[in-house]
Amino acid sequence: MAECGGNMACGTCHVYVQQSYFSRIPEPEEMEDQMLDATASARQPNSRLSCQIIITAALDGVEITCPESQI
Ligand code: FES
Repeated sequence: MAECGGNMACGTCHVYVQQSYFSRIPEPEEMEDQMLDATASARQPNSRLSCQIIITAALDGVEITCPESQI
């Protein structure tokens, strides 16, 4: 998981963000958006690459779920 160390090159950090917190995270940049279309597990409306999420106080209490498969 997170094999490329945050360089948006692997997609192995794909996660599902608790829906009620999802809008508190800035929208993905184009490259992240493209990577999310190529992840091992199906993209969902609340999908993000965890390496691109900056944790702030606004995310206190958020639940993050990992997909069944990352590779
Ligand atoms: S760690 Fe590789 S895309 Fe996030």
